[in-house]
Amino acid sequence: MHSSPSGLAAAAPPLPCHVAIVMDGNGRWASGQGRERSAGHHSGLGPVRTVIEAAARHGIEALTLFAFSSENWSRPASEVAGLMNLFCDALDAELPMLQTNGVRLRFIGELSALEARLRARIDAATAATAANSRLRLQVAVSYGGRQDILAAARRVAARCERGELRSSELSAEEFAAGLALAGLPDPDLFIRTGGEQRISNFLLWNLAYAELYFTETLWPDFSAADFEIALQHFAGRQRRFGLTGTQVAS
Ligand code: FPP
Repeated sequence: MHSSPSGLAAAAPPLPCHVAIVMDGNGRWASGQGRERSAGHHSGLGPVRTVIEAAARHGIEALTLFAFSSENWSRPASEVAGLMNLFCDALDAELPMLQTNGVRLRFIGELSALEARLRARIDAATAATAANSRLRLQVAVSYGGRQDILAAARRVAARCERGELRSSELSAEEFAAGLALAGLPDPDLFIRTGGEQRISNFLLWNLAYAELYFTETLWPDFSAADFEIALQHFAGRQRRFGLTGTQVAS
């Protein structure tokens, strides 16, 4: 509870229900230290833990992390292999931390493109955390926002072909039920580290009304204090959803 100068309890600042993060800057962080890019990815694991713990502590409902895009498959094979190994190792090593923080883990993206040993670990970790309810964590791997929308479009087109749905009756809710984040509130805060100001094919449908927050900080340096600053920026935004400021304030 916050206290105001009058001594009366002040309302807590609004928190996002769902935070989505593009964890960018691992490669530049490593190059800046004269190290291999893989060192940056390994060091990126610390801030992953930090934001999971901070989100759980704040009572944030959902956190979605962009770990590997559909386009990242075109990176050098050694970097891709290193990342896949890192995801495998992280799933083994971080399971106790996920359990302690009540995290329900899910991976989104084209998981069929992943090697079998990673898929097996994903399945095991998903099952092991399925009953947790404090924080819903989505890790996007082999994920692309356009691919996600295309898959949802194919799903409704197939229903139309089977005569189960008339195209004129398709609602936004019905369409969104076919997206990777179905069943979750849309992210209301989008954070991107690493200085670039773009969405890079992440959650294109779901970010429609997200508040965007960009920081120069490279992902391996992103700290609990940096996360708090992003939350403060969110609390200072007036969310209008197409209304006027006066309408929202009344
Ligand atoms: C983007 O930085 C980062 C990635 C493609 C990988 C993200 C992976 C992690 C943070 C490792 C741990 C994650 C989990 C969920 C276990 P970049 O390589 O594009 O950086 P650059 O723009 O400086 O080159």
